[in-house]
Parts: sequence; structure tokens; C-alpha cells
Amino acid sequence: MIYVLTLCLLGSAAAQTPPVPSPRVPRQPVVQPLPFSHKMHVSKGLACRQCHAMPDPGDFATTPATAVCMSCHESVKRESPSIAKLAALHKEGKRPSWKPVYRIPEWVSFNHRKHLAVADVSCETCHGPVAQRDVLAREKDIGMQSCMECHRLKGASNECIVCHDPR
Ligand code: HEC
Ligand code: HEC
Ligand code: HEC
Ligand code: HEC
Ligand code: HEC
Repeated sequence: MIYVLTLCLLGSAAAQTPPVPSPRVPRQPVVQPLPFSHKMHVSKGLACRQCHAMPDPGDFATTPATAVCMSCHESVKRESPSIAKLAALHKEGKRPSWKPVYRIPEWVSFNHRKHLAVADVSCETCHGPVAQRDVLAREKDIGMQSCMECHRLKGASNECIVCHDPR
């Protein structure tokens, strides 16, 4: 309720000068529970969406179930301690606790699938050259100003309510 009120006030007072967003880049590489490399796995011919399935309604890209990993790792690199850890988690029905790299507050509307339907927009537009990275770091800005910059360039609406729907 307080939040809705704040937005209404800001909506009238700050329509021309939206507030400066918290800096979202650069950020240090995130240390993950397993040494998973995008570079190595993508080089084996795996497509982004084989692991990031984007289930309906397409808001989230999601990270893969361990069953996806085990389709190879039941046999590949079984002797590795990190694969043993992965296999143990899989057996217990658990997942590695991957640390977030890209996040916006949950009260901001964002849908992956709708953005990927926009001409010339790919994963790399918002996440950088993931396929060349062993370890991911947030290297692209996903703060409010960068959202609005692309909306302006592509002719999409920048009305506050588009991204801040109080429902
Ligand atoms: C083999 C499965 C696999 C493939 C293929 C894959 N990813 Fe990932 N992705 C993961 C896993 C596991 C994580 C969590 C660990 C990490 O961050 O490295 C992740 C994390 C991410 C994240 C950060 C998620 C967050 O929580 O902020 C982004 C962004 C991402 N992947 C983009 C991509 C893109 C773009 C591609 C294609 C070029 C791709 N991924 C291909 C498995 C995969
Ligand atoms: C228009 C910008 C944009 C594009 C294009 C984009 N993402 Fe994202 N991505 C984001 C934003 C913003 C977040 C943070 C969303 C949140 O916190 O709810 C995010 C978060 C993620 C996450 C972690 C949270 C989740 O949704 O599961 C993964 C994984 C991810 N992106 C993968 C991908 C992959 C793979 C592609 C291409 C198939 C892609 N993204 C394309 C902007 C984008
Ligand atoms: C298409 C098959 C395939 C899939 C699916 C796959 N991997 Fe791999 N993975 C490989 C191959 C091949 C290697 C490299 C093995 C080598 O170094 O000889 C590897 C290496 C690894 C390593 C490094 C192991 C080490 O000690 O060197 C980790 C960790 C890993 N994978 C985790 C994952 C996770 C987590 C998933 C699921 C999100 C996954 N893999 C999905 C094929 C796959
Ligand atoms: C690379 C360009 C680009 C970036 C970056 C981008 N957008 Fe968009 N966005 C668009 C375009 C173009 C549309 C209009 C799509 C349409 O109408 O089909 C759109 C539409 C939307 C919509 C309305 C569609 C829906 O999901 O209901 C929302 C909400 C939205 N964007 C939120 C965001 C947020 C939040 C960010 C930043 C985290 C962001 N966008 C970053 C290009 C972008
Ligand atoms: C295209 C999407 C988009 C539009 C349009 C948009 N915002 Fe935002 N807004 C965001 C995102 C994403 C964040 C989260 C940024 C962050 O965490 O750094 C945010 C954060 C905010 C915050 C919190 C700031 C902070 O520092 O935590 C306020 C207040 C806000 N927006 C007000 C507005 C107002 C007022 C408008 C209309 C003039 C507007 N927004 C239009 C995407 C948008």
C-alpha cells in the first residue's frame, strides 16, 4: 500500500526525471556451488533453451533440473568430485543452490518470452557473451534506465505502469 502511494507520488512529481536507479554493474563473478562452465557446455552444442526452458507464461528463464545434467553425467566425468556432488544431489531430489547473477526486484514486471520475440533481441543483449564465459558475472546493466533506454529506442511504452503495475 505504501509502495503504491509512493509510486503515485513519484509518478506525478518525477515523470520527466525518473529516479536514478541503484548501480547494477559492474559486479564481481559469482562463486557457484559447482564449477559449471557455460563456455564448455555451449561448445558441446547445447542451446541456451535446452537448460533455460522458459516455462509458461515465460516470465522466468529458470535453471535446469538435475535430470538434464545427469542425462550426460550418469556417464561423463563420473570420477570428478563435483560430478559426484551433483549425482548425490540428484539422488536426493535436490538441486545445487545456484547463486543469482541477474535479478530485479520482484515488484517489477518482466517477461523473458515477450522480450525474446522482439526483433534483434537475444539473450546476449541483456546478459552479454555468456557462451564465452567459464564463470558468469553481471556484465550488463538491467537497471531501470537501461530498460527505458531500449524501450525508447524500440518505440515501446515507458509509462510507469508498464513495469510497475500495482496489481
Ligand atoms: C547445460 C545447461 C546450460 C546451458 C546450455 C546454458 N546454461 Fe545458463 N545456466 C546454467 C546453470 C546450471 C546456471 C547456474 C550456474 C551459473 O550461473 O553459472 C546458469 C545460469 C545462467 C544465467 C544466470 C542466471 C541467474 O540466476 O542470474 C544466465 C543469464 C544464463 N545462464 C544464460 C545462458 C545463456 C544465454 C545460454 C546460451 C548461450 C545458457 N545460459 C546456456 C545452465 C545452462
Ligand atoms: C530484455 C532483456 C533480457 C533478455 C533478452 C534475456 N534476459 Fe534473462 N534476465 C533479464 C532480467 C531483467 C532478469 C532478472 C529477472 C528477475 O529478477 O525476475 C533476467 C534473469 C535471467 C535468469 C535468472 C532468473 C530466471 O528468469 O530464471 C536466467 C537463467 C536468464 N535470465 C537467462 C536468459 C536466457 C537463457 C535468455 C535467452 C534465451 C535471456 N535470459 C534473455 C533480462 C533479459
Ligand atoms: C550434453 C552433455 C552434458 C550435459 C547435459 C551437461 N554436461 Fe556437464 N559436462 C559435459 C562434458 C562433456 C564435460 C567435460 C568433461 C571433461 O572435462 O572431460 C562436462 C563437465 C562438467 C563439469 C566439470 C567437471 C570437472 O570436474 O571437470 C561440471 C561441474 C558440470 N559439467 C556440471 C554440469 C551441470 C550442473 C549440468 C546441468 C546443468 C551439466 N553439466 C550438463 C557434458 C554435459
Ligand atoms: C533490448 C530492448 C529491451 C530491453 C533491454 C527491455 N525491454 Fe521491455 N520491451 C521491449 C520492447 C520492444 C517491448 C514491446 C514488446 C511488444 O509490445 O511486443 C517491451 C515490452 C515490455 C513490457 C510489456 C510487455 C509485457 O511483458 O507485458 C514490460 C513490462 C517490459 N518490457 C519490462 C521491461 C523491464 C522491466 C526491462 C528491464 C529490466 C526491460 N523491459 C528491458 C524492449 C526491451
Ligand atoms: C521499462 C521498465 C520500467 C519503467 C517504464 C519504469 N521503471 Fe521504475 N524500475 C524499473 C526497474 C527494473 C527497477 C529496479 C531497478 C533497480 O533495482 O535498480 C525500477 C525501480 C524503480 C524505483 C525504485 C528505485 C530504487 O532506487 O530502488 C522507483 C521509485 C521507480 N522505479 C519509479 C518509476 C517511475 C516513477 C516510473 C515512470 C516515470 C518508472 N519507474 C518507470 C523499471 C521501469
